[in-house]
Amino acid sequence: MAEKIKVIMDCDPGIDDALAMAYAAANSDTLDILAVTSVSGNQSIQKVTRNALDLTEFYGLDVPVAEGAPAPLVREPQFAAEIHGNTGLGDCELPRSSRVPEQENAVLFLYKILSQLPENEQAVLVPTGPLTNIALLLKTFPEVKSKIREIVFMGGAAKGGNVTPAAEFNIYVDPEAAKIVCDCGVPLVMCGLDVTTKCFLTRNQIAKLCQSNNPVAKICGDMAGFYISQPYNKYKGTVNVHDAVPFMYLIHPEIFTGENAKINVDCSEGVSRGSTLCDFRWWNYEENEINAFVLEDAMTEKFQEYLISAIYELGESKKS
Ligand code: RIB
Ligand code: CA
Repeated sequence: MAEKIKVIMDCDPGIDDALAMAYAAANSDTLDILAVTSVSGNQSIQKVTRNALDLTEFYGLDVPVAEGAPAPLVREPQFAAEIHGNTGLGDCELPRSSRVPEQENAVLFLYKILSQLPENEQAVLVPTGPLTNIALLLKTFPEVKSKIREIVFMGGAAKGGNVTPAAEFNIYVDPEAAKIVCDCGVPLVMCGLDVTTKCFLTRNQIAKLCQSNNPVAKICGDMAGFYISQPYNKYKGTVNVHDAVPFMYLIHPEIFTGENAKINVDCSEGVSRGSTLCDFRWWNYEENEINAFVLEDAMTEKFQEYLISAIYELGESKKS
C-alpha cells in the first residue's frame, strides 16, 4: 500500500473550491488531508471560513479548519460574488456545522502542522485561492520550507486571464503574495487557466447531479448549477472546476501534460497586473531558477469521469 500524500487545502470556498474538496474527501485512500485553511478571495474571510466549516462537516471530513487572511498583503480585498453568489456557495443551503475554527490563525496553524511532521515527512500545500496565507507563512517562518514537498496551486495562466485579459483571479487579487510564492524556491506546480479551462462539467452532467438523490451529488449539482447560470458561464454551457485540478494532478498525473518554466508575476498597477509570465525557454536559466511545472493540457473526459464518480462515492459513504 503506497504511503498517503499528506495535503493541506488553503481555499476560498467558492463553488469550485467546494467541488474540489468533495473530490479530495472522496480520495481519502490516497490523500491524508491534514487541515483546511481559509483565505479571503471569492468572498469575505467570514463567509469562506463558514463555508469551509460547513463543507468539511457535510463531506464527513474530520479535519481542523483555521481562518486565514482577511485581505491581500497590500491591496484591498476583491470578491467574486457575481460568480459564487452572496454566500460564496451560490444559493445552496448547507446544514450549518457546529464546528469552530482553530484558535490560531491559518499562518500559525500551518506552521504548527508542518513543523510537527515527523523528521522525514513532508506535506503538499494545495492553495485554491489567493496565495496570501502561503506568502505570509513563507516570509514569517522560512524554515518551514523544508517540510513542504511542493505547492500545487490553482492560479495564473501562461496565456490569457479571466479577471482581465492578462490575469487570473487568484493571482490578480494578491500578486505580491504570488510573487513571494513563485520566488520561494519550493517546487511549484501551476494549475492555471491553460489547463483548468479543459477541466469542466457540462450542463447535462450538472443536471444529472441535481436530479440525483445522492446527497453530495445533489449539493454539488446545485452549486455548479448556480455557477453555470451566472452570466459569465451561461453562454458557454460548461463550468470550469478550476480548483479540482491540483488534487486530480496529485492522484491522476497521467491525464495532464505540462512543461517546466520560470514564472514571473507582474505586481504593477497596469493592464498586466497579476499576469504570470511563464518563460518556457528553460535553456536560458540555471536549473534552480526554473521554479514551476506549468500544466498545459488535460484529458477532459477522464477529468469528468474521475470527478463525478468521486462525488457520487462520497455521497454513498454518507448514506452508510
Ligand atoms: O480563477 C479561478 C479561481 O478563482 C478559482 O480558484 C475560483 O474559486 C476563484 O478563487
Ligand atoms: Ca478558489
